[in-house]
This record gives sequence, structure tokens and C-alpha cells, in this order.
Amino acid sequence: MKKTMFLILMLLASMTSFAQKEIEQGARWLDTAGNPINAHGGGILYHDGKYYWYGEYKKGETILPDWATWECYRTDVTGVGCYSSPDMVTWTFEGIVLPAVTDDPEHDLHPSKVLERPKVVYNKKTGKFVMWAHVESADYSKAVAGVAVSDSPVGPFKYIGSFRPNDAMSRDQTIFVDDDGKAYQVASSENNQTLYINELTDDYLRPTGKYTRNFIGESREAPAVFKHDGKYYLLSSGCTGWDPNQAELAVADSIMGEWETIGNPCTGTDADKTFYAQSTYVQPVYGKKNLVIAMFDRWNKKDLENSRYVWLPLDFSNGKITIPWREKWSPADYPDNN
Ligand code: GAL
Repeated sequence: MKKTMFLILMLLASMTSFAQKEIEQGARWLDTAGNPINAHGGGILYHDGKYYWYGEYKKGETILPDWATWECYRTDVTGVGCYSSPDMVTWTFEGIVLPAVTDDPEHDLHPSKVLERPKVVYNKKTGKFVMWAHVESADYSKAVAGVAVSDSPVGPFKYIGSFRPNDAMSRDQTIFVDDDGKAYQVASSENNQTLYINELTDDYLRPTGKYTRNFIGESREAPAVFKHDGKYYLLSSGCTGWDPNQAELAVADSIMGEWETIGNPCTGTDADKTFYAQSTYVQPVYGKKNLVIAMFDRWNKKDLENSRYVWLPLDFSNGKITIPWREKWSPADYPDNN
């Protein structure tokens, strides 16, 4: 009996230790059930006092197809995973909110396809949660955006379909909602050469037809947009597949541009390689003074499921935005807003 009690206590102690309090770069980040968080190329939705982290749920073997002429390592599509958190550190798995469609080989969400960089936003007018993602054929020739909707942040999301926004290719992508409620899709287009900013309709389901071409011929990928002190910022990577390269930050007075390149915001160890990671999203932590987190993926191209995360706070000192390297840190280190 005593032995059973002891075992139960040990189990409880180990379970509470899953509630991580620190963010450690490239570490095995466990959810509250003790499983590694599986949400790659992800984004955050803040809704009703909770954070939701959506990402590529990469499961199973990573393969390089026989026909590959470049390093298009892939896993079968499983779907989009969702985690929830009160503090951006402790994450509870909410399930696969947009699952793969296994019984129709033609479907965009069939395991044989590619599903990347899902982002979810809330539409105040319709009361719907809207997901946009990069939907692809296995050889990356389709280059479309897929859209899904849900009545709840934890799904299930209903897939509506895919298209090329403004008849242009759409690969790495994000969604940005401005303070006035207008939303924009930002996507690598024209064979990843040029970044499109596509204004969306009031229901966030389609492009309005208004768009701008930005960073023309500069091959920017992995876009992440945020607003600070009334200006728009765009963090992006170069275009080298799963391999890391140098990040770049740009600033604009309007979301549609003109964008002015500021340079590499990363500083410290391996800053020229974005700390061996690639941008995916930038998220403010509410209630914390000046805490804004830049989220990156540290891809493990030969074992994609085991790719890790690099999350770093932006530094706003001296009127400049930088992303200094820190091995580990905690939101608790930041003062609360008064
Ligand atoms: C990267 C892109 C990733 C993924 C990868 C495939 O450039 O940012 O999301 O598409 O290429 O090689």
C-alpha cells in the first residue's frame, strides 16, 4: 500500500514538472501532458485571455522523395495542431483542429500533400475563427492558400478550399489583422521572388483584389508582421529551403508598403544564421510591459517532427528593434503593466 502511495506521489511530482516555466532555445518543449509540442511554422491567436498556438503537426518519418531535385524533405500531412496557454509558456494540447483527409487522394489535405504555416485569426464581425495556410502538392508546384473556418478556437475547422490570391502563387504566408479590423495575407509569391500583401474581404475569406508587390526579386520568405508605436514591421528569412540564413527586418508607415529594410535584427551567437532557425510569427504578451516574442522554427530537415523552437523577446532599447540571443528566459522576468 505504502509503495503504491509512493509511486502515485512520484507520478504526480513528475507530472507537475511538465509545467515548464522557462523558454529554452532548441530544447524539448513539453506540453502539460508531457509530450513534445508539435506545432511547426506556427502562429498565435490571443482570444478571451488565452493564447492558442497553431502549427504543422508533423508526425512520422521524414523522407526525401525519389524524384526530388532539391531538398524537399517531407512528412505526410497529419493536420494542424492546436495548443492553448494562459502565459505563452505552459501549453495544453487541444488536438488536431484541421485533420488530414485520408480517403481522397485529390484533396488538398491528403497525407501525400504539403500543409504549412497555418495562421488563425478571429473575425469580430462574423464571430468565426479563420485559418489560412500554405497548401501544396508534394513537389511544391501548386503554390496556393487554403482557408478553413470554425466557430471555436479549438476547432473543428471546416476546410473551404484553396486558390491563388489575386491569381498569384502563394507559399510561405501569414495573416495580419490591423487595429481597424482589416486583415491582410502576406505571402511569398512569383516563385518566392516577391512578397505579396493581399488585403482580405471583411469576412477574411477572400482577397479584395487590392494588393502590393514588395521586396521585388529579393526572395523573402517566412514573413511575420507586427505593429509597434504606430509603425508596421515585417520580419522575414531568405530563401534556402529548410536551411537557415540571415533574417531581415523592414519597417513601413502602411501595411501595404512602401517597406524600408532595416537589416538583420538578430544579435549575438549565430545571429548571421538566425540562431539556426527561421521566423514564423511575432506575438505580444499582454499584461507584460514591452514583452513581444519573435517565434522561430529550428528545422531538423531529416527528422522534421523533431524540429525545435527558438522564441526570443524583442529588445526595444535605444529606439532600435533587435532580437538578442538568449539561451533561456522567462516571461516572469518581465514587469507587469500597471
Ligand atoms: C522553406 C519554407 C518552409 C518550407 C521549406 C521547404 O523555405 O520557409 O516553410 O516550405 O522551405 O523546403
